[in-house]
Amino acid sequence: MLSNRSSGISKRTFLTGTSAAAAALLLPLGRTPAARPVQEMRLVVVPARVSLLGPGAPDTSVWSFSGQVPGPQILLRRGDRLRAVVENRMEEGTTVHWHGVRVPNAMDGVPYLTQMPIEPGTSFTYEFDVPDSGTYWYHPHQRSVEQVGRGLYGPLIVEDDEPIRLDRDVTWILDDWRLTAGGAIRSDFYDEHDLTTTGRLGNTVTLNGRVPEAFRVRAGERIRLRLINAANARIFALHFEEHSPWIIALDGQAVEPHEPGPEGIVLGPAMRTDIVIDMRGRPGDRHGIVDRFLPASAYKVLDIAYDDRPPLRNQPLDAPIRLAGNDIEEPDLHAAERHKVVFDGGAGSGLMRRMIHGTASERARIRNMFQQGLVWTINGVATKSHTPDPMLTLRSGQSFVLEMQNDTTFHHPIHLHGHFFRVIARNGKPTQFREWRDTVNTAPGERVDIAFVAGKPGDWMFHCHILEHQEAGMMSVVRVI
Ligand code: C2O
Ligand code: CU
Ligand code: CU
Repeated sequence: MLSNRSSGISKRTFLTGTSAAAAALLLPLGRTPAARPVQEMRLVVVPARVSLLGPGAPDTSVWSFSGQVPGPQILLRRGDRLRAVVENRMEEGTTVHWHGVRVPNAMDGVPYLTQMPIEPGTSFTYEFDVPDSGTYWYHPHQRSVEQVGRGLYGPLIVEDDEPIRLDRDVTWILDDWRLTAGGAIRSDFYDEHDLTTTGRLGNTVTLNGRVPEAFRVRAGERIRLRLINAANARIFALHFEEHSPWIIALDGQAVEPHEPGPEGIVLGPAMRTDIVIDMRGRPGDRHGIVDRFLPASAYKVLDIAYDDRPPLRNQPLDAPIRLAGNDIEEPDLHAAERHKVVFDGGAGSGLMRRMIHGTASERARIRNMFQQGLVWTINGVATKSHTPDPMLTLRSGQSFVLEMQNDTTFHHPIHLHGHFFRVIARNGKPTQFREWRDTVNTAPGERVDIAFVAGKPGDWMFHCHILEHQEAGMMSVVRVI
């Protein structure tokens, strides 16, 4: 059972979350056509000490953006231009990747592929237009296992042109840490067992950089929660006891509003889900939010705690929750070129069997791979390099379907940079919502078909977002020309 540590600490943390709405509600609803000035900000990559465990518990040494975990929430409007000066005050190189934001390739933050690492003591300026509304996040792409694992990540929120009616708009960025009893980050990054199995699972879950105990709400409120999973490897399946959240966006993209299935709100690493919840409990109520992804070790992430104020309203708000969404080019499924993408490797896989029973040359090839710390393959190839030969070369503007087959015994949240794709089928069965995503989970043995129009020219990473899997080979490049 994963101990969420709140049990061991006598304190009550009421989480207010970072409120995008607080700012958003002050803005005039009618969009002024006049361009806004460039939104400038500075991010300092720097070691820091923060309180993950809360008052009364020891602080934790982390790597941070500007001294905080998560890094500062970047709040933008669609069409804004962001200029972010990133200054590296650490002892190793880094980059910043704007996960999900459709930036020009040169701004994508992939070391050696789109830029050189930002060396210690130097800065790099990212500047790009933000074409899409939604919930995104930023993180390094250099030695991500350790850099993200030590706390380098932050939320990036792009407001809707026409916001839906809400009382609060709250961002929750979840993380999973492996801490010692004294609250320090265990330094066993790149552990061989983690690399070859589930990735680095921790023992402490935080929400906005703090072990949460309760999310304080008022009866009758309508709240939008923007859930972001910044963990290296943990997949969450959140269940809101006694509440009926509606999913309104996945990876920042509008989806037909729907209630989650029995599996709950499943959030693999890097994935985002925006939900709307009407707080239908009574003043003084407390209900749990439980992660049941691993049913045998389900645990409570935090409580929803109703305060004593009288209900804000007696009937749930009668206002639409459907988002307008973004302009994403629709793939033409008839004209689409189809490609198979097979994931292999890890414990219990065909790759492991061939390592033992394969031909002599197969065995030698696989042994050589393992010796380099490579255990996961995409279409037979494993690499640690950010500049491998592209697995596919696609013509910009053309439609493609990738038939992705997970031939492993593990889950893999697969991410394509620079694009949104529609998830069109799972195991040959059309999906109900044909959701747009930039990261999609593939379950053990599952086949997932995605469709998209190749976007901006450049080399775009395609990788598993369990950072240990990416590190151990599960990474490639899609070239758009
Ligand atoms: Cu969120 Cu290639 O990364
Ligand atoms: Cu990305
Ligand atoms: Cu994976």
